[in-house]
Amino acid sequence: MADYVPVTKAVVPAAGLGTRFLPATKATPKEMLPIVDKPAIQYVVEEAVSAGLSDVLMVTGRSKRSIEDHFDRAYELEETLDAKGDKERLAQVRESADLAMLHYVRQGEPRGLGHAILCAKHHVGDEPFACLLGDDLIDPRDPLLQRMIEVRGTYGGSVVALMEVPPSQVSMYGCAAIEPTGEDDVVRVTDLVEKPPADEAPSNWAVIGRYVIDPAVFEVLENTPPGRGGEIQITDALKELAGRDAEAGGPVHGVLFRGRRYDTGNKLDYLRTVVQFAAERPDLAGEFIPWLKEFLATRT
Ligand code: UTP
Repeated sequence: MADYVPVTKAVVPAAGLGTRFLPATKATPKEMLPIVDKPAIQYVVEEAVSAGLSDVLMVTGRSKRSIEDHFDRAYELEETLDAKGDKERLAQVRESADLAMLHYVRQGEPRGLGHAILCAKHHVGDEPFACLLGDDLIDPRDPLLQRMIEVRGTYGGSVVALMEVPPSQVSMYGCAAIEPTGEDDVVRVTDLVEKPPADEAPSNWAVIGRYVIDPAVFEVLENTPPGRGGEIQITDALKELAGRDAEAGGPVHGVLFRGRRYDTGNKLDYLRTVVQFAAERPDLAGEFIPWLKEFLATRT
């Protein structure tokens, strides 16, 4: 087996306009919207750290301050909580600042996810890296990124996460044409199409927001013209890598994910996510679930 360079860095693109969540996202990135009491992006950084990646680069946009502040120390707040002896809240406030080695790069203009990833080129250098979308949450009980890093270790190249979706939803995702490998949860990706109409989709396996990417992607992205929606699409660059052999930065494999994923980038899925997280919180569920049942009973 080839000796592949290990994955040590994570890139979290959070520079999109978040138009599906306006007006909340006018001055706040959607990645900062709280899932109960923690911004979505903190769950994502925690996931990177649990997969062994503590070097995290955030690609931020216009409203980057709230992200930087959230992952920084907050001395005034800490002093006040300390003076009150409120150790529990003090620990909560410090937690996000102590999580990882965070770095920031700014995407001047939101020219697409592919362009956001290209902004990470200087920091990442010539190493494979993980990319985690800041509005897509994976349940820590169903670890996905660790498996993807393992698969990169076996096959080299890049690895995408694939989730089966109903045909009516394929047009919302990048979609993969796949071939089996000897492993149950791993496929070879032979083609990728961004947001295809249902009848043109190569399969029901949709690309979700976790990637392990070979650094050859940077050269490809530099030469990738704007695609669907006028944006530079990571799907187009990965499609190119899927057709290459190992010496040229290919191939692309997919890990078939059958665990729990929570989308927070649109209003309806966000609401579902918050309710599910609240219903599992030991400090809230006891009051929240009976209230929710009663509320629903009065609505039907
Ligand atoms: P989305 O397409 O979900 O984000 O991008 P968006 O464009 O912000 O959302 P809508 O469609 O307008 O509501 C997926 C991820 O890529 C990031 C987003 O922040 C999100 O995490 N992204 C997207 C960038 O960082 N830069 C971009 O130019 C586009």
